[in-house]
Amino acid sequence: MSTLVFYNYKGGVGKTTMSVLAADHLSRSGKRTLLIDFDPQRNATQFLEASYGEIKTRQSVEEALKKNSLDKSIVKLDNKLDVIPGSWKLSLWPSSLEKVPQMSRHTILKQAISRVKSNYDYVIVDVPPTTSEFTHNAVFAADYVVIPVPAQRSGYNALKDSINYLTGLKKDFGLTFKVSGFVLYLVAKSNRTNQTIAKELRDNFGKSVFSNEIYNRDRVTRWSDKGITHKKTDTHDKKTHEMYSLVFHEMLYRMGDED
Ligand SMILES: Nc1ncnc2c1ncn2[C@@H]1O[C@H](COP(=O)(O)OP(=O)(O)OP(=O)(O)O)[C@@H](O)[C@H]1O
Ligand SMILES: [Mg+2]
Repeated sequence: MSTLVFYNYKGGVGKTTMSVLAADHLSRSGKRTLLIDFDPQRNATQFLEASYGEIKTRQSVEEALKKNSLDKSIVKLDNKLDVIPGSWKLSLWPSSLEKVPQMSRHTILKQAISRVKSNYDYVIVDVPPTTSEFTHNAVFAADYVVIPVPAQRSGYNALKDSINYLTGLKKDFGLTFKVSGFVLYLVAKSNRTNQTIAKELRDNFGKSVFSNEIYNRDRVTRWSDKGITHKKTDTHDKKTHEMYSLVFHEMLYRMGDED
């Protein structure tokens, strides 16, 4: 079992979209997948609700973490796809940890995941931007971190902040997760600023940058509003899934899970 986190210090860079579509892709290819919505904004949950209807859980994720057992918070969505939905109450969770010693505070999610990991091939944790107890816990639990990077100047700077944060945690706490690489998110092939910054990133970071890229596609916003569709006769569905699929194949290849 591997735990994956799509992380970037910056907000609105496609973390949740990648988490949800990776869960969709992996579960459809037969992998037992759990998506944990570890963001009080609960965007991943809303995205999935557009496809599967209202997601109700017997126990909220913050309650489940207090009890160190995720079982009652897991909801089955499909044959191979489970989710732990997010809740706004999760925003109160960090302040409830003030008396917990630092080291145990950062490993709460990791411990809880370790009790269910035998049921899954992949656990994906969707996190809010910036740094917080949510991101610390997700990174402590992670085996692999993938950084989505918008090909804009602000994206470049956020990538540096993200790398500093991740290497800082690695060094300070001896964590062993691997950064699989950076996935470029571009507005359009014709956008010159995007292309210039994409080139700069490739020149400076070499193989750390995924060969496959994500582009702005209206179909993605439609999926998040009306649900994910897989219509074989619909070119937009087909092309958009293919674009994400190439990135996820490369991700698995980089993880050593696929040829
Ligand atoms: N490939 C894409 N094409 C078009 N729109 C996209 C694409 N990927 C993401 N978006 C849209 O961009 C917005 C931000 O994406 P998303 O919510 O995945 O980012 P995020 O990094 O999770 O944001 P936050 O930091 O707030 O959690 C959303 O409205 C989403 O639908
Ligand atoms: Mg998000």
